[in-house]
Amino acid sequence: MKKIVLAVPKGRISNDLIPLLEKMDIKIENDFFDSTTRKLYFKTNYKNFEIIRVRSFDVATFVAFGAAQIGVAGNDILHEFQYNEIYSILDLKIGKCRLSVAKTKAEINQTDEQKGHILVATKYKETVINHFAEQGIRAECIKLNGAIELAPKLGICSTIVDLVSTGNTLKENNLVETEVLLNITSRLIVNKIAYKIMNSDITNWVNRFERAINE
Ligand code: PRP
Repeated sequence: MKKIVLAVPKGRISNDLIPLLEKMDIKIENDFFDSTTRKLYFKTNYKNFEIIRVRSFDVATFVAFGAAQIGVAGNDILHEFQYNEIYSILDLKIGKCRLSVAKTKAEINQTDEQKGHILVATKYKETVINHFAEQGIRAECIKLNGAIELAPKLGICSTIVDLVSTGNTLKENNLVETEVLLNITSRLIVNKIAYKIMNSDITNWVNRFERAINE
């Protein structure tokens, strides 16, 4: 049996993902739960099943390049990168949130169509450019990797595209959600070549994930 590496994202998705892995009887070494650890690679109770923990945006990249055979990534990330090397094989029904446009209160009275061009702070450059292009609007993106909501607050733009879960971050920063681009859940993704050459092992893990989400 060849080794399978599962790439999981850092951050709040862990609250949903860890119980799912527990349901599958996967026990991860203790360091995984130590917030001060610098470790990125973790063993499990299965000799041939290891876990790497990376930034959510990098999960798809690690799987696309075959560094991990399987991974957990939101459809926002799959949409942004459009990797051909990946199958999105299963909706894990966790990590529910949405990718939305939000604007300052002053900005919502002005329609984008009137402008033909807007400046948007976001992590999701490709998704944003394509989304507005479909409406005939040229979006120029200020690419940020976090704290997107600060950009309008500090006056560098009036529109953002970012993840919304409870909506509290928008509220706290006086922003109004104006449009949902994508409804998001986490997906189990698989490297296409690994799926071919390790089909029975990977299928076995996919089935276990599927059983756990339907339990
Ligand atoms: C995400 C997202 C928003 C926030 C939305 O950030 O980028 O800032 O959560 O959640 P809410 O609607 O429940 O307030 P996260 O905290 O994951 O960190 P980040 O800013 O580093 O991306």
